[in-house]
Amino acid sequence: MQLPILDQHQRPLRSLRLSVTDRCNLRCGYCMPEERYAWLPKAAILRYEESIALVAALLPHGLRKLRITGGEPLLRRDLTDLVVGLDALRASSPNSPGLDEIALTTNAVHLEDLAAPLKRAGLDRITISLDTLKPDRFLEMTRRDELDRALRGLRAATASFEGTKLNTVVVRGENDDELADLLRFGAEHDVEVRFIEYMDVGGATRWSMDSVVPASEILERIAAAFGEPRPDSAPRGAAPASRYLLPSGQRFGLIASTTRPFCSSCDRARLTADGTFFTCLYAAEGADTAPTLRDHGAEAAARLIADTWQKRSDRGAEARAASIDRAALAGADELRSRPHLEMHTRGG
Ligand SMILES: C[S@@+](CC[C@H](N)C(=O)[O-])C[C@H]1O[C@@H](n2cnc3c(N)ncnc32)[C@H](O)[C@@H]1O
Repeated sequence: MQLPILDQHQRPLRSLRLSVTDRCNLRCGYCMPEERYAWLPKAAILRYEESIALVAALLPHGLRKLRITGGEPLLRRDLTDLVVGLDALRASSPNSPGLDEIALTTNAVHLEDLAAPLKRAGLDRITISLDTLKPDRFLEMTRRDELDRALRGLRAATASFEGTKLNTVVVRGENDDELADLLRFGAEHDVEVRFIEYMDVGGATRWSMDSVVPASEILERIAAAFGEPRPDSAPRGAAPASRYLLPSGQRFGLIASTTRPFCSSCDRARLTADGTFFTCLYAAEGADTAPTLRDHGAEAAARLIADTWQKRSDRGAEARAASIDRAALAGADELRSRPHLEMHTRGG
């Protein structure tokens, strides 16, 4: 059996975020602030067979976990076909490494009718992105009037799947007064809520440090509403969320991607819908795997990915945090990093 590949900081390539489309049906201000975008041409987008062959070829290099993302992945037609193909890549014996987990990240707007078929196709888990429970605010934050459909999607997910999670990006002045309501909603619907710090990535062209609510402050506010949370000591591998338990026993997570980045344990890579491989959300450049995949096959493309990973030395979020600190010390008001690569193309 081949040894898993490691990068320059000894991080394995265990987990891949597979973006299946760059299109989205919402226009969240922190991700896709413009109304119109130049979408990837259809011919450039990897076909499901190509993605499945590539994932299969990455398994001997150590890949174990896959997260289907986008854009909004449920906009891609026949997504269940992809899941069926990926489900066939599960480990068949201890000596034949296979996929351990197939997860999906979605805004849930199209989930109501798809949750049960996705479960039958072999999907393990769903994470739903939802930033508010207020219809007016949902419209303001996403510029689409889709809260009802998203909530129906969420209910369908919890009916079909165990362990559904809800991710909320906390933006100061926009939804930071809803932390307690979202936690109560999580308890009611048996979903683990994870609050994410607003990151200076992708289309976050309005990002400023002032709009970030640091995880430490989120924790203080939750403590004020529910009593002191205690850290949850259950082991979690390289998962980015720090988990806590409320006095009631309810579990929640904090993802301090801006103030306490977790680069040292980052085993996540990203593949865009057109096959560009990124080793970091903050990376300026990726490796274009599509020509290799189409001309020389999946194993050659997997070798290109493995070579790229082995050269990886990035600690993008930490470097970003350090530059925020430097700019703050220097009193600079222009804190946004350059260049910016769109989160919706590279699968947040
Ligand atoms: C880009 S979306 C793609 C998948 C799917 N459309 C969804 O809504 O989950 C993935 C995640 O990235 C998060 N995200 C996008 N821009 C962000 C930013 N500037 N800061 C923090 N999280 C962000 C979204 O909230 C979402 O949870």
